Amino acid sequence: MQNFTYYNPTKLIFGKDTLQELKNEVPTYGKRVLLVYGGGSIKRSGLYDKAIATLQEIDADIFELPGVEPNPRISTVRKGVDICKKENIDFLLAVGGGSVIDCTKAISAGAKYDGDPWDIVLKKHIPEEVVPFGTILTLAATGSEMNSGSVITNWETHEKYGWGSPLTFPKFSILDPTNTFTVPKDQTVYGMVDMMSHVLEQYFHNVSNTPLQDRMCEAVLNTVIEVAPKLIDDLENYELRETILYNGTIALNGMLQMGYRGDWATHNIEHAVSAVYDIPHAGGLAILFPNWIKHTLSTNPSRMKQLAVRVFGVNPEGKTDEEVALQGVEALRNFWSSIGAPSRLADYDIDDSKLDEMADKAMARGEFGNFQTLKKDDVLSILKASL
Ligand code: NZQ
Ligand code: ZN
Repeated sequence: MQNFTYYNPTKLIFGKDTLQELKNEVPTYGKRVLLVYGGGSIKRSGLYDKAIATLQEIDADIFELPGVEPNPRISTVRKGVDICKKENIDFLLAVGGGSVIDCTKAISAGAKYDGDPWDIVLKKHIPEEVVPFGTILTLAATGSEMNSGSVITNWETHEKYGWGSPLTFPKFSILDPTNTFTVPKDQTVYGMVDMMSHVLEQYFHNVSNTPLQDRMCEAVLNTVIEVAPKLIDDLENYELRETILYNGTIALNGMLQMGYRGDWATHNIEHAVSAVYDIPHAGGLAILFPNWIKHTLSTNPSRMKQLAVRVFGVNPEGKTDEEVALQGVEALRNFWSSIGAPSRLADYDIDDSKLDEMADKAMARGEFGNFQTLKKDDVLSILKASL
């Protein structure tokens, strides 16, 4: 293992009927609350009305920023920052999926900065102060509810970047599995692919002696593999939703990644793809990840071999490490296909016309990937294999 410091101050409030906890949490931070939400799912599900009623019980002054896009845009962050500055907002409450939470993180930092919030995403400005925020999560996927990361898109320049700060952990996150009952089948699948991808990003490293971390990662993957086929046919099953919701948080709240750095190249490539084509984040991951594994396999075949044997039940007898690993990649692809995830860029009508542009965007912050460093040619190969 490498030396590490683990820090995660988010209070996780998990379970049925936990919305009421807003009444204990929000007053700690003030009365003027900006409610941030997406395109309307929380109105259709009734969660909006319940959140408003709960905030009214504590006499909060409620302001609203609706319309946060999937793949949230800096233009929406700017709107939120303007409201915060004009209305002297004390606290932000994100109600939605990862996009709403990521947008809220950028607003929270942007509200305490005089310049353009895009500077924060570009890491030209390092936040020193933020407006505190909490979340009510409605979709199991990103882990944003218990991490400090945020991914924002600039649709004018077609750039999508991740950023984060020790100041942008949510103060609290309320996770009630019933709030995820209305997530449609396709988004449910995307969420499960995303959390599995987060585990895979972390699993591929070259640091020795991480036996517990490996098994924790494998446990998350095994659990999703066990639950996913049942959940897609039973979307309002409390126990299945509960398990997946908890998995999503554990997959990316830092607990799996103590003592080593994960790879994270596939996420970088996916962000470049969705900066150009605005496809669902996990749709891109499902397409790219198996091709990234194949491309980098020779760096350290023992990692994928271990995963193939322990998670996908590949029998290693009489086979080389590469053969076992490749069977594991096949099993991963088959599993994702079996639950309805896409497998080719063509599934989103993406052809080879913008491969170079996507590769350049992936390279914008230089060579990347901690398991294997990728150059532009590597990115192009992975994209071509994904067509
Ligand atoms: O906008 P609304 O109407 O709320 O609808 C959303 C949206 O259309 C809908 N939805 C959410 N909860 C629902 C629901 N529909 C019905 N019932 C519910 N309970 O689902 C759609 C997708 O929502 P979104 O928030 O975009 O999905 P997700 O949570 O997958 O977030 C994706 C974003 O997170 C970033 C991605 O790049 C992408 O921009 N990521 C953030 C990370 C982080 N902060 O740590 C890490 C991830 O790897 C990822 O990159
Ligand atoms: Zn992700």
